[in-house]
Amino acid sequence: MNLISGFPVQRPRRLRENPVLRRLVREGDWGPQKLVAPLFVTTKKGKQRISSMPGLHRFGIAAAAAEAKKLEGLGIGGVLLFGIPASKDERGSQAFAAGGVVPQAVQAIKKAAPGLAVITDVCLCEYTSHGHCGILRGRSVDNDATLPVLSEIAVSHARSGADLVAPSAMMDGQVAAIRRGLDKAGFTQVPVMSYSVKFASALYGPFREAVGSSPRFGDRRGYQMDTPNAEEALRETALDIQEGADIVMVKPALTSLDILRTIKRRFHWPAAAYQVSGEYALVKAAAAKGWVDEKRLVLELAAAIRRAGADILITYHAKELAGWLKGKG
Ligand code: PBG
Ligand code: ZN
Repeated sequence: MNLISGFPVQRPRRLRENPVLRRLVREGDWGPQKLVAPLFVTTKKGKQRISSMPGLHRFGIAAAAAEAKKLEGLGIGGVLLFGIPASKDERGSQAFAAGGVVPQAVQAIKKAAPGLAVITDVCLCEYTSHGHCGILRGRSVDNDATLPVLSEIAVSHARSGADLVAPSAMMDGQVAAIRRGLDKAGFTQVPVMSYSVKFASALYGPFREAVGSSPRFGDRRGYQMDTPNAEEALRETALDIQEGADIVMVKPALTSLDILRTIKRRFHWPAAAYQVSGEYALVKAAAAKGWVDEKRLVLELAAAIRRAGADILITYHAKELAGWLKGKG
């Protein structure tokens, strides 16, 4: 499969645009600068604990900015923002509302911690009353009706100053639609980090508790991938690259190491791995029982993901891992 769709869809300069992006994708490096910490941002003030993700919180805008400053101080490369809106509706209209929670958080974080790459998740499930990742037609998600909405969300994030947008809805053509939308709005230099390989996984449970995004009916198997499918994972990745993805991503990390390895060998594209909420919860639960050595385990998992070929690791362990990678703590 020919991956090179060429200019203007592919613009290698996007990842060279500023020092924050260059540091994130620089080949050969491994350290805190290659870690991305997911952050849950809400319109409520202060911070609230997430029970299935011990040690993590949902942050109000000011609290998120303060947290980002700490992460920047640890040398971490970036944050990945998930918004929890004040209200949800059928069409997820808060996802692209002017002054929405994510654009507000982007602005506050860029100001407090300019050394961090601010990446935004582009999806609808946090914003829809039914919890699905797109616009419904009857009881199924209408792929093509969802594309313009995703594009509008991405543009609203770029407008607020996001360094990268990360579409996670698993709609066909979402990268192309977002790329076109960004280009049309003048954001030709804003890169897309695509969730290219996203398996329908049992490991997303704690995340759905954190953002209240469990589907009210059915499940996500009609758009997220079936776990046994390795060939399909490579086709999805190839399509995303053709559509203009600047960085491709796989998740969950631990169950996709083989895919990651093949992607790096075959496509020579920047690749990120997302160690998801359930992977974090497994480690934390066993560590709390005293059944595993948490530091050793977290370092071991990170090393394995790195070995499989990840250039970037998105992980809820980012804060502690940053210190451990530097030999501190
Ligand atoms: C949804 C989305 C999910 C995650 C990020 N964006 C999963 C889902 O609910 O299907 C998972 C992240 C995690 O578990 O840490 N677009
Ligand atoms: Zn979603």
